[in-house]
Amino acid sequence: ISSTPFLLVMFSVFILGCIVTAFFMYYKPSPTLLNHLLESSDCTKNIQHVDTATNDKNMTIVLLWMWPFGQTYEMNVCSSALISDGVVIHHRDIAGDLSNLPKSQRPPFQKWIWMNWESPTHTARLPGLNNLFNLTLNYRRDSDIKVPYGFLVTADTVEDFVPPSKDKLVCWMVSNWSPNHVRSKYYNEFKNLINIQTFGRAFNNYIADKDYNPIMASCKFYLSFENSIHKDYITEKLYFPLSLGTVPVVLGPTRENYENFVPRDAFIHVEDFKSPKELLADYLLLLDKNEELYLGYFKWRRHFKVNVVKFWAEHTCKACDYLRQKNEYKAFNNLNKWFWG
Ligand SMILES: *[C@@H]1O[C@H](CO)[C@@H](O)[C@H](O)[C@H]1NC(C)=O
Ligand SMILES: *[C@@H]1O[C@H](CO)[C@@H](O)[C@H](O)[C@H]1NC(C)=O
Repeated sequence: ISSTPFLLVMFSVFILGCIVTAFFMYYKPSPTLLNHLLESSDCTKNIQHVDTATNDKNMTIVLLWMWPFGQTYEMNVCSSALISDGVVIHHRDIAGDLSNLPKSQRPPFQKWIWMNWESPTHTARLPGLNNLFNLTLNYRRDSDIKVPYGFLVTADTVEDFVPPSKDKLVCWMVSNWSPNHVRSKYYNEFKNLINIQTFGRAFNNYIADKDYNPIMASCKFYLSFENSIHKDYITEKLYFPLSLGTVPVVLGPTRENYENFVPRDAFIHVEDFKSPKELLADYLLLLDKNEELYLGYFKWRRHFKVNVVKFWAEHTCKACDYLRQKNEYKAFNNLNKWFWG
């Protein structure tokens, strides 16, 4: 990954992405294409902006230094024109000795963007990162470029939501099982109180990608148990069931923190039930028998729609937008303390 030719290839891909983008901007996209772009990425919301920016031929290149987890993705979904340069660096791909970071002298205007979506528990703390970066791109609400795993938007029309038909009570899908996770301890107690249908590698019950949505939709409740508990670390484990019409039972940061992201009656929090744990099991059984109470968990859907963030193009677009809008000097010199505490 650190070989120069590879980076050159990526750099070229990026420039190509920008050229494609510029092409779209000069040859005004058709409404269908525009709609497609608007759906596929947030950063295209500023399309008006883009036209004016293009007229003065200002264009900036953002270099994605390494593909996140080695996975490539299309760049041409960004139609932002940029006025400042940045280098996006994915934490998980940084070598422990920092040897694979860009080595040449940094241009004075260039900003390095630290990108990471894993929680502090699952992110290696690397020495030497403190005085490198200018901006953070993270799920946390206090990052410079905020990219939560999902978000709600107000619906265009007010309509009652009818959840899909259900043939399972409580479901859980897990690939990484560790007995040390808080969620594992919780599950071990919980499974003796209520029937839980389990899926995923952890339970030798692997499900194909195409089966994920139908299975999720067929469960009344889903255990949205995060792998570790940190402020704002609320992942697709919440947003997938929400979007598919399944009620999430969450374990993660506090209820208050969840309510920063989604309405209070959209989910059940394990903390709502102090002890004994039976309360939670009893409550789910009660909801199972009482349709009206159960449907209460979908009232918010009259007014909101769920957006699950699409990795990773959307993130790079957001970085573009940020750089275009803010060009002030900024150094982020306490990354370690900020993220790992
Ligand atoms: C490029 O954008 C900057 C910042 O918006 C502006 O000051 C500058 O005049 C623009 N350059 C050209 C050639 O239009
Ligand atoms: C970015 O951060 C580095 C390290 O703190 C600093 O030396 C550099 O001047 C900053 N650049 C900008 C454009 O803010």
